[in-house]
Amino acid sequence: MKYDQQLRDTAKAMVAPGKGLLAADESNATAEKRLTAVGLEPTEQVRRSYRQLLLTTPGVERYLSGVILYDETIRQKDDAGTPFADALKAEGIIPGIKVDAGAKDLALHEGEKVTEGLDGLRERFAEYAGMGAGFAKWRAVITISGDSLPSEACLIANAHAMARYAALAQEAGIVPIVEPEVLLDGDHSIERCYEVTEATLKMLFWQLEHQNVMLEGTILKASMVLSGKDAADRADVQTVAEQTVKCLKENVPSELAGVVFLSGGQSEVEATAHLDAMNKLGGTPWPLTFSYSRAIQNPVLQLWSEKKTDEAVAAYLKRCEANSLASQGQWSESFEK
Ligand code: 13P
Repeated sequence: MKYDQQLRDTAKAMVAPGKGLLAADESNATAEKRLTAVGLEPTEQVRRSYRQLLLTTPGVERYLSGVILYDETIRQKDDAGTPFADALKAEGIIPGIKVDAGAKDLALHEGEKVTEGLDGLRERFAEYAGMGAGFAKWRAVITISGDSLPSEACLIANAHAMARYAALAQEAGIVPIVEPEVLLDGDHSIERCYEVTEATLKMLFWQLEHQNVMLEGTILKASMVLSGKDAADRADVQTVAEQTVKCLKENVPSELAGVVFLSGGQSEVEATAHLDAMNKLGGTPWPLTFSYSRAIQNPVLQLWSEKKTDEAVAAYLKRCEANSLASQGQWSESFEK
């Protein structure tokens, strides 16, 4: 493969010890939801100004190996006129780019989604590579509902699209993050989440293999194995850590460069505690680290919306440090006090 070494090097750097990713790739629609929820106007200027805090806070480079950007953001500049991607690179942080076009209703499969965005993707990758993107992200959404969802059709369609995306990314020298998110929504048990996550991962790695995707130059962005948000008896931190690590070990090839987690609606401390417990267990062939959006950004955005900029910066650095510690199994609850 043309970019073999570059892909391996970038993927390795993304999961370097003590580092993880910030997901700041909210689409304009998602950004609008988050901004209006805290009483802000969802204008381009407000999005830029808020993202400037996330992307240029001094000190985050100690904890972040990369940041996932959205198309609008990779084209934006900081107050000094430096493109955000260049500002990140100057701090040794790798800019990444979300390239999927969102999850759309899967035809003839009520309640299920398939992620779109393959059309014209080769040309878009060429442009993003030119703007400095080192890695990319594609998110698929898997819904659990009773015993019937997800359907096999949903798993096949999403995994196939993700593998086609990953191949195009590697052809362009860009490390693909493949993110099959099993949603937290519902009242399902942790056992049901395990079963669905296992089926999702098996299908994904089967499709990646068939599309010749090099796993040493690929990152998995995984959801944790958890009880549904509305489940009666939700599994505790230790059980979540054990089940997640077991599911990954049994279904993810050891050549993969690394696993990063999404937070998926967990609270900030929950997301950190789960990551820490997994790393305390250890014994995985790949590093396990974070790629959180809400579990890092929620307190930051709230404070920023109240014009408490210093507190917002402090909260941001604190969540990044907490997750950095958790990625090494060195966090404890006392850190939060
Ligand atoms: P959350 O951590 O808020 O789940 O977001 C991560 C992400 O990138 C979802 O695609």
